[in-house]
Amino acid sequence: METILSVRSLKKEYGSRGTRFAALHDVDLEVQKGEFLAVMGPSGSGKTTLLNLMSTIDQATAGEIYIDGRNLTRMKNGDLAKLRRNKIGFVFQDFNLLDNMTIMDNIALPLALNKANHKEILAAVEELAAFFGLTDQLHKYPYQLSGGQKQRAAVTRALITKPSVVFADEPTGALDTKASTELLDCLRGLKPKYGTTVIMVTHDAFCASFSDRVMFLKDGTLHARLDSSGSRKDFYQKILEMLAAMGGITNERL
Ligand SMILES: Nc1ncnc2c1ncn2[C@@H]1O[C@H](COP(=O)(O)OP(=O)(O)OP(=O)(O)O)[C@@H](O)[C@H]1O
Ligand SMILES: [Mg+2]
Repeated sequence: METILSVRSLKKEYGSRGTRFAALHDVDLEVQKGEFLAVMGPSGSGKTTLLNLMSTIDQATAGEIYIDGRNLTRMKNGDLAKLRRNKIGFVFQDFNLLDNMTIMDNIALPLALNKANHKEILAAVEELAAFFGLTDQLHKYPYQLSGGQKQRAAVTRALITKPSVVFADEPTGALDTKASTELLDCLRGLKPKYGTTVIMVTHDAFCASFSDRVMFLKDGTLHARLDSSGSRKDFYQKILEMLAAMGGITNERL
């Protein structure tokens, strides 16, 4: 097992003197290469904050984050931008696809920005789009796709540079159960094919049950962890029980 991401004594405070508030404190986390990790916890528990720090979107107040052995908290801006471009992929709840570009061009964009060769770009897009069931959608525009197809296109775009880690904040938040299942099955299938590590924030036990492990945040600290035994249904039950024990709201979906 190879550690791809590690977080040590991480802390994030918001506000200024007098109104300082620690949204995250004492967070330690190790993520293995190829792992599919879900982060859960009540609203305001610090999930997005943690994801934003690990994905370089925001800066920690104290503590350290390593990706591929490199300390993000000590990195210069130029190196950080490079790492962000080459090692990290992002997926947002609301897709963030560009409306006036085809799905093909949307997916190809990160490679085009990296000045890759045109033929290589085309081949890479076609291969990954096939994995996400998007072969027939490549020449359409975002408005011509379903929500699930749009989100799979956004994930394909996030993966096109072959990042080490993909961060997703509530990627199924705008999808129904069927579209969520299709997306999550694809995310789960990334490890055997591409070795990609996925870290996903979700408030939904059903979505979390597709992962290998769930870390539960409460009041800005890691409260508990659950590991999948391999059976998604058993894992789903365990997650529901944990959420109930934590006093969280659960939504029954099977
Ligand atoms: N920019 C900010 N300035 C001040 N406080 C913030 C800021 N962003 C988040 N917070 C606070 O930090 C805490 C954690 O917020 P965060 O967005 O990480 O929660 P979350 O677990 O993602 O919640 P949700 O499930 O509602 O998305 C909350 O109390 C929030 O109000
Ligand atoms: Mg959030």
